[in-house]
Amino acid sequence: MPVISFANAKGGAGKTTAALLLATELAHQGFRITIIDADPQKWISQWCEISGPVPNLSVISEVTTASLPCHLREMASSTDYFIIDLAGARDALVTTAIGLSNHVIIPVQGSAMDAKGAAQILDLLAQMKDKAKLDIPHSVVLTRVTSMVTTRAMLAIKGLLAAKGVNVLETSIGERVAFKELFETGGTLHTLDATKVSNVDKAKDNARSFAQEVMRMMPVRVVRSMGSKLFPFRRNAA
Ligand SMILES: Nc1ncnc2c1ncn2[C@@H]1O[C@H](COP(=O)(O)OP(=O)(O)OP(=O)(O)O)[C@@H](O)[C@H]1O
Ligand SMILES: [Mg+2]
Repeated sequence: MPVISFANAKGGAGKTTAALLLATELAHQGFRITIIDADPQKWISQWCEISGPVPNLSVISEVTTASLPCHLREMASSTDYFIIDLAGARDALVTTAIGLSNHVIIPVQGSAMDAKGAAQILDLLAQMKDKAKLDIPHSVVLTRVTSMVTTRAMLAIKGLLAAKGVNVLETSIGERVAFKELFETGGTLHTLDATKVSNVDKAKDNARSFAQEVMRMMPVRVVRSMGSKLFPFRRNAA
């Protein structure tokens, strides 16, 4: 059961939105999803409260560096994908969660500030590789992309990342009212009222492409047969 964290040391990069899109899309496709809400703003926990039960999806709201490995262990047999939403910080919980992840997704908006927040997470990943011999796969996903965002700004960020050898997902997450709306109304893109929210179909297509790309990187069966990364990490952490 892959553990996927969303990290960017800068606040407001789009982590929570991207995490919820991935979680709800995978749950819609029938995968059992556990979201671990480690964002102190608790947007996903609030979303969960207003949504009521969502098939295949559960949310763990209270998490600490000590409890995180326990949650993962306890929920492992009933979860296909863990999705961890992290604070816009580089603190102990972020470091612990990244250390327990099979993949870290770093949402980046087309602005210099976001690239800096992403760089802090990339530095952390590099340090883990050097010092703890933990080589954690990671990718950047460009977020809040509009036709207004100049390709020049996007290309500059992509170029910077490519120069560092960072994988950038083919699918970017667009700037969409429907994505914001989920936090207002609860539910998923599949339960949104398409007569009240514009372009729900495009939003669904976007979320589906994003989830498919992530699943291609981490097909459940392959990761399961490789065994969980939790075990080597627990040995290191002990
Ligand atoms: N793709 C998107 N389309 C429209 N609005 C978005 C999108 N992504 C993020 N937003 C909006 O931008 C704001 C910040 O997004 P979000 O909460 O996902 O970022 P975050 O990285 O989790 O922030 P924090 O670091 O504070 O936890 C929110 O108001 C959210 O609704
Ligand atoms: Mg957040």
